[in-house]
Amino acid sequence: MAKAGANAMWGGRFGRGPDAMMEAINASIGFDKRLARQDIAGSRAHAAMLAACAIITEDDARAIDAGLAQILSEIEAGGFAFSTALEDIHMNVESRLAEIIGPAAGRLHTARSRNDQVAVDFRLWVREQCDAAIDGITALMGAFVAQAEAGAEWVMPGFTHLQTAQPVTWGHHMLAYVEMLSRDRGRFRDARARMNECPLGAAALAGTSFPIDRAMTARALGFDRPTANSLDSVSDRDFALEYLAAASICALHLSRFAEELVIWSSAQFRFVRLSDGFSTGSSIMPQKRNPDAAELLRAKVGRILGANIALMTVMKGLALTYSKDMQEDKEQVFDAADTLNLSLEVMAAMVRDLRAAPAALETAAASGFSTATDLADWLVRELGLPFREAHHITGALVAEAEARGCDLPDLPLETMQAVRPGITAAVFDVLGVHNSVASRISTGGTAPDNVRAEAARWRAELG
Ligand code: ARG
Repeated sequence: MAKAGANAMWGGRFGRGPDAMMEAINASIGFDKRLARQDIAGSRAHAAMLAACAIITEDDARAIDAGLAQILSEIEAGGFAFSTALEDIHMNVESRLAEIIGPAAGRLHTARSRNDQVAVDFRLWVREQCDAAIDGITALMGAFVAQAEAGAEWVMPGFTHLQTAQPVTWGHHMLAYVEMLSRDRGRFRDARARMNECPLGAAALAGTSFPIDRAMTARALGFDRPTANSLDSVSDRDFALEYLAAASICALHLSRFAEELVIWSSAQFRFVRLSDGFSTGSSIMPQKRNPDAAELLRAKVGRILGANIALMTVMKGLALTYSKDMQEDKEQVFDAADTLNLSLEVMAAMVRDLRAAPAALETAAASGFSTATDLADWLVRELGLPFREAHHITGALVAEAEARGCDLPDLPLETMQAVRPGITAAVFDVLGVHNSVASRISTGGTAPDNVRAEAARWRAELG
């Protein structure tokens, strides 16, 4: 037996308990209680396997299972007294199990260690978060597709360098995000598939001499197979890093649309109106509608990427296998997952509520000589000019329009012919923004017909 004050779980060789400060830095129960459900699921699978392999008796396994089920309901009901002295979720659960079922509780930890236990708990948790991200992204994709369907032919300026470049369609812009999000979803799916191996049974680091059945626990917990190397099983957290990397990229994509919403909702643009539900007023300037939710979504990537970098830094240079450094893996991932899930939900709601202003979009699309490329292309097609020369002539026409304070379609034909003889009135067909977008029928182009077909493809895929 451990001496008075020494840790009941591992204090056998200790004369006294830890310093209070040691407890403060060492204990993880304050945050790893979030792994309670996974911890209990792992323990129940382990106990059932131990009995099936005749390592513990059926009676003990039944008592353990019932005790664990009771602990789960106590935790879910909020009535569980977590103890810092018991360090972490694993020992809190095991200690409570001993209170409920007595000495048989001590058999649960046969052929396992907290090292494989925490590895399996955390994998289960991160795996669930991959599923949550996949669902959240799918919902957001649906919201963007609905916007694309509504505005497949609304013309808006396409930007490069945030300068008007060429007219594009609203639907095309919305579907650009659907593509990004679909790759994000793919990253979470890939990460999930890769992490879906069960480390349970690796024990402390070397495996165990007990005749365990790792395939059985793997199956019970929904894993594809057991992990192949015990040292790797307890020492890597790359599954969490992959989750964080995928989350960072996804949050980065959200931040780009968030920034567009901030710009587009400004008085200078007025491309969109954010719903009241996602705007706030100013306490001093009564006219203001601030896009706070969009600004926060723009910022959240900092936090998620911060978690990614923090965990990378924790893991860097750790010699195999487990070191306590790795206890620092959880809080960052918890926070990043909470942040990503909320961000996806908020963004989906904002996109659903978003009201574009097609007239303002079109007015902006028609300004800034946005059809200059159409004009150059026309010169190539109709007059057989090399593109470089056509580009040069178009530049001269733009300068002419600028000097007159008008747009390209407003230039008189004679003025154009003075710059380049041979230009005919047919050129005006390509100078309008609707014709411009309608002509962009190349694969992946912005033409409304393309957008409608792509939106339908996504609609069918998303169901
Ligand atoms: N709380 C620990 C963690 O999160 C559990 C594993 C402890 N293992 C050990 N050998 N001390 O990493």
